[in-house]
Amino acid sequence: MNLKKYRELFPISQKGCFLNHAATAPVSYATINSMKVLCDQMQEPLGKHFYESLGILEHTRRLLAELLSANAGEIAFTSNTSTALSLIALSIDWKPGDRILVPRNEFPSNRYVWQNLKSKGVKCEFFDLDHPLSEVLESLDLSSVKLISISLVSYLSGQRHDINAFGAFCRKHDILSCVDAIQAVGTIPVDVHQADIDFLAGGAQKWLLGPMGCGYLYIRKDLIPKLHVPLVGWTSVRYPENFDLMQLDFSPEATRFEPGLLNIASIGGFKSSLEELKSIGWEFIYQRIQNHSIFLREGIKQISGITLKYPHEKYLSGITSFDLPKHIHPKKFQASLEKEGITVTTRNSIVRVSPHFYNTQEELIHFLSTIDKTFQKKSLFLTKEKKGKLQPDRWVLINGVTGTLGKEIALSFAQRGYNILGIGRNQDILKTLKNTIEKNYSLQFEFLTADLKNSYEVS
Ligand SMILES: Cc1ncc(COP(=O)(O)O)c(C=O)c1O
Repeated sequence: MNLKKYRELFPISQKGCFLNHAATAPVSYATINSMKVLCDQMQEPLGKHFYESLGILEHTRRLLAELLSANAGEIAFTSNTSTALSLIALSIDWKPGDRILVPRNEFPSNRYVWQNLKSKGVKCEFFDLDHPLSEVLESLDLSSVKLISISLVSYLSGQRHDINAFGAFCRKHDILSCVDAIQAVGTIPVDVHQADIDFLAGGAQKWLLGPMGCGYLYIRKDLIPKLHVPLVGWTSVRYPENFDLMQLDFSPEATRFEPGLLNIASIGGFKSSLEELKSIGWEFIYQRIQNHSIFLREGIKQISGITLKYPHEKYLSGITSFDLPKHIHPKKFQASLEKEGITVTTRNSIVRVSPHFYNTQEELIHFLSTIDKTFQKKSLFLTKEKKGKLQPDRWVLINGVTGTLGKEIALSFAQRGYNILGIGRNQDILKTLKNTIEKNYSLQFEFLTADLKNSYEVS
């Protein structure tokens, strides 16, 4: 193994300490060069390179299928993960009253596509997923549930789930299973057939070190002919080059979900990324990413004042997140890391670190020692006014917060970064809500147990 040689494949590794692959990852020289060649070809008539382009497309499909342990015929290319999720949502024969369950802390795409089915009478409901998935699934009300959609790895906390247990649970209860795998594929082995899931969506631009604008969709083979095809075009059919056929005869494969010519430069770049990572060795890559997570978690535990977002050791992912100490200003913290050449994500007071296989232990040590030093810097402390209990510009008061509507309103404000002052009658619900909001969003939730209809309670 020659890590130095591998690092030289990636221009970013020569420029700074990039620990942010869960965002959008910079690509390698080889990927850029493949895209440049394909872009140059666009100066010539399409016919000249058409069959070559089709070859690139099918080769990329096979590489991806191999990575997911799927059949190539079960893979469709899309422009991103969100489009893949939307296609799934629009392909199912929903009935009014059907329910969809989604973890509350999902990335927005995996909430919005399901909420968008409201006009069909379909209800998208959220559940808390801060314990191991199998425990949580067992506690859910499954009446009228048609589909459950989860991220295999949570984009913010890095919590990873047992995809096999998820697939088995959904199969047992005759519920469709959908997995957003963009934060997982490329960091851990994923076997869609073994997991027995129905749908999986992902994209090239994070852990697969591919370009933006290239997503993919896996659909279990026997489901393909049963689904509605929401977007149709000349390439959706069995014989796309025969323009004289008057029947709409869908392709028997997932390509029926590809409605026209695709972005070949992006897919060609993706092919190059997959080939490069495959030749380096997936097992080697998975192992290095796991080792980085273990190392980072151990280092973070040694730094006083910060807590890991996901404390369970069993299912680690490529993402390690922690809460900043209350006295540290998140934006100033991020800026001070940038000065040291370190790139991570900070969202509110959560810091997300996501190194890839080519990052070194020295870089992780540099990061850990920088945060330790940074926490001592007085210039990064929140001012008295900000640190004090109330930050007037970021607080919202919600009356009736313990009711169904009140809870949803509180969570929606928390997602937008507001601290909450909640008023409600049920102290147990208030305490649970406080726990959920403070844990998941690192915000303050203060409450008052009162019924404002009773004037004697308002004093
Ligand atoms: C879990 C998850 N799903 C979906 C997306 C969105 O991906 P895309 O831009 O490919 O739709 C992201 C992006 O950060 C993500 O983290």
